[in-house]
Amino acid sequence: MNRHALVTGANRGIGRAVAAELHARGLALTVTARDAAAAAGTAAELGPGVRGQQLDVTDPDSVGKAAADVGPVDILVCNAGVLLDAGTGPLTAPLDLVEETLRVNLLGTWRVLQTFVPGMVERGWGRVVVVSSGTTAEFGGALFPGAPGYSLSKSGLNGLTALVAGQTAGTGVLVNAVNPGRVRTRMMPQMTTPPEVPARFIADVATLPASGPTGQFLTERRVPQ
Ligand SMILES: NC(=O)c1ccc[n+]([C@@H]2O[C@H](COP(=O)([O-])OP(=O)(O)OC[C@H]3O[C@@H](n4cnc5c(N)ncnc54)[C@H](OP(=O)(O)O)[C@@H]3O)[C@@H](O)[C@H]2O)c1
Repeated sequence: MNRHALVTGANRGIGRAVAAELHARGLALTVTARDAAAAAGTAAELGPGVRGQQLDVTDPDSVGKAAADVGPVDILVCNAGVLLDAGTGPLTAPLDLVEETLRVNLLGTWRVLQTFVPGMVERGWGRVVVVSSGTTAEFGGALFPGAPGYSLSKSGLNGLTALVAGQTAGTGVLVNAVNPGRVRTRMMPQMTTPPEVPARFIADVATLPASGPTGQFLTERRVPQ
């Protein structure tokens, strides 16, 4: 059966590399971006058969329309994210930036999960990857004070992953968070690792066998068998 994968924030960076990797592995693919032209352009670049779809994770109408337009999704990669408060601190971070960070990273991902995961449960099969970060307190990491809103948003995502995985346990739907490591993208231009490196790992987590883990925070150094 050819599974259908959907990636958020797939027009650049890690999301685009994950989309390319899933396409190379032969999956039916929808690439989404908050800009419709960017979604269409990325789909065209990746190759025939790839669908482009506008999806802004902060906009309920956009997410709802995407779900109606693309049909059942088997594999969901929640990659869209922002880093807005780098270089601040817990006592100085502008809270409007923190609020926007939480709106995109935590609530936006939550919205996408609420939209697509129930269908997976109904169909008895699904793989969900939540792109988190190393800057999280959940699962034994350490919060990063230099981007407090971002760090807390990703900690929240790990907790959300555990909650959703608890709900889907035994249904055939595996839900995991990943730390992609530090990767050279527009978000982190000073890094050297290209996004294709975590993309292979994220694609592995997106195509886990039925015996694979769920409710875990996986790093690029712990590829599940
Ligand atoms: N790079 C790293 O070292 C690193 C490390 C740890 C975790 N991460 C995580 O990896 C993920 C991808 O980051 P990246 O490094 O590839 O950064 P990036 O190049 O800045 O890409 C971020 C993506 O998220 C999209 N996005 C932002 N707000 C959105 C919204 N409201 N709705 C839908 N899409 C939205 C962006 O779309 P636009 O083009 O429209 O802005 C873009 O496609 C993020 O969740 C990030 O937190 C990255």
